[in-house]
Amino acid sequence: MPAAIITGGAVRLGRAMALHLAKKGTNIALHHNASSKDAKETLTEIRSTGVRAESFPCDFTDLSAVEQLIAQVVSVFPDTELLVNGAANFVQEDIEHTETKTLQDTLHINLMTPFLLMRDYKKRINRGMIVNILDERILRNVPTFAAYSVAKSGLSHLTHLAAIEMGATVRVNGIAPGLILPPAGDTEEYLTRGAKLIPTLTHGNEEDILRGLDYLINSPFVNGETLFIDGGQSKGWARKKRGGKASPPVDPSWLDGGI
Ligand SMILES: NC(=O)c1ccc[n+]([C@@H]2O[C@H](COP(=O)([O-])OP(=O)(O)OC[C@H]3O[C@@H](n4cnc5c(N)ncnc54)[C@H](OP(=O)(O)O)[C@@H]3O)[C@@H](O)[C@H]2O)c1
Repeated sequence: MPAAIITGGAVRLGRAMALHLAKKGTNIALHHNASSKDAKETLTEIRSTGVRAESFPCDFTDLSAVEQLIAQVVSVFPDTELLVNGAANFVQEDIEHTETKTLQDTLHINLMTPFLLMRDYKKRINRGMIVNILDERILRNVPTFAAYSVAKSGLSHLTHLAAIEMGATVRVNGIAPGLILPPAGDTEEYLTRGAKLIPTLTHGNEEDILRGLDYLINSPFVNGETLFIDGGQSKGWARKKRGGKASPPVDPSWLDGGI
């Protein structure tokens, strides 16, 4: 039975991907932040599917700890065939107000850690696939999430570079979600309001991401690709309907630049 490493696997989309793969018979190396309160419960849930699941706590702001992670996983799961880089922080700050620590942590968690994990995956595992979880914002300019957007854009570029360098043995692809879950602490209202701005006039859900993940896993000739699972949001805002005439886009300013 092969194994998968899911970073940020204890909660939300990471948890959904870990459980989804477990239900298909994949053993799970569950990474979570060292301080996670949810990891134990998620681990129990994954194990209840019948697969082996082990916990790999690591704070991704500590790059020396990150450099141990792949070796630790391989010692427990030598048959690992998938790395999903899902962990991220998501801090809403424009450039002017970005604290130096936020910038450093964001680059460490969202860009440098995936870089190091991809490097070590190639060195020690060298088969299967890497999936980097990006964000539809990589096609837009959203200064209200400056550090986050820069990190995700860098990770997108890294996905392309790695697909070329590693493609003969490791396929490297990305998933760029749009409006799927409200930011931690926000309510469903965030999704229903945001959906009005999206060309499909809907928001997505976890199942959309899981279908994308399945597609990438089952498509051996897909390498260096990014699946935008965003209802078209990355390509432009929904347009108001005005009797079939050309109309301006919906004004997203009431969301305070949030999405
Ligand atoms: N939700 C969406 O609609 C959406 C939209 C676009 C893109 N995305 C992307 O999809 C991925 C998952 O998003 P999400 O909203 O489900 O997740 P999330 O709530 O933002 O959390 C992601 C994970 O990152 C981990 N993490 C944060 N800081 C960390 C640190 N210092 N060290 C190690 N791990 C750390 C958290 O671990 P702990 O829980 O253990 O603390 C958490 O499991 C992210 O890459 C995100 O950027 C999501």
